[in-house]
Amino acid sequence: MEMLLINLYHIFVWRAELVLSDFVLHKMFTTSEFDGIVAIELGAGTGLVGMLLARVAKTVFLTDHGVEILENCARNVHLNSVMLPSKTWVYVRELDWKASWPPNQSNSTSSHSYGWNLSEIEELERASLLVAADVIYSDDLIDALFTTLERLMSHGLNKVLYLAIEKRYNFSLDDLDVVANRYSCFRSYVRDETGRDPFFFRVILLSLKACFVLSSRLPLLVSNGGLATINDAEHHELLQNGMECTFVGSRIDLTEIPQYANNYDRGQDLELWEIRYARKVKKTKNLKRFVKEHFL
Ligand SMILES: C[S@@+](CC[C@H](N)C(=O)[O-])C[C@H]1O[C@@H](n2cnc3c(N)ncnc32)[C@H](O)[C@@H]1O
Repeated sequence: MEMLLINLYHIFVWRAELVLSDFVLHKMFTTSEFDGIVAIELGAGTGLVGMLLARVAKTVFLTDHGVEILENCARNVHLNSVMLPSKTWVYVRELDWKASWPPNQSNSTSSHSYGWNLSEIEELERASLLVAADVIYSDDLIDALFTTLERLMSHGLNKVLYLAIEKRYNFSLDDLDVVANRYSCFRSYVRDETGRDPFFFRVILLSLKACFVLSSRLPLLVSNGGLATINDAEHHELLQNGMECTFVGSRIDLTEIPQYANNYDRGQDLELWEIRYARKVKKTKNLKRFVKEHFL
């Protein structure tokens, strides 16, 4: 039964896809943010969200992996083509998070037409929007997904990812409790900025704090002739205080999004995140080198 369900993942429209559709529709009705953009849907399945975006975007890549899934998605695009503006480019392409990068290019010998050509791969850099729904459901997939996200989001235009999640709880013998392990794995990649200062101001505040800590240590650093006075706890705190996580995100309040799609239950287990890529600050060595170069 589980195998059967795994093989049919792509033909369902999951609740997370519906909540993401509501969000995208709401944005489209109330702003022009998505007009004329390049967008990518990851783990698109049926491709519903990507097709909605195609109403206003310039180019949309609907991506997933496996011929059967991609064929189903392409069929949906074809069935809905009358609803899509003729000026929008919609591509169904294979983007397997576990495969090497850049993604497979199409060639004359390939058995299907979901490979990329060079200009499409270049177009990925010009994407400003990524969307994904219900793609957080196994630890190794989450690792592979975030590797792909880092590749996509660390290049080209600044990108924002809207990620819809259905938290799934299981009983764990280790914890002797009901836990959402996949969700915890997701959270290990994303620092939650919900309700905090915008990231930009936070980085400035933290940089000021770092300068303050370092300058207040300066006489000691000089008299000791070494770095021992910046102890590990302080160093750890500087890094923890916001410069090490690769992604920062905040939860979107779903009560502010109208429910356009009927017949689905928006329980507490559905979450929608806005996530951005935050460049990592290199660890201890660089901090020590920085102090050596600037203070000693
Ligand atoms: C639960 S379905 C969600 C489908 C759709 N987004 C929705 O919510 O209706 C998970 C999707 O992730 C895709 N997926 C799983 N492993 C993948 C991988 N390694 N690379 C790309 N997509 C993958 C599956 O094919 C499937 O379409």
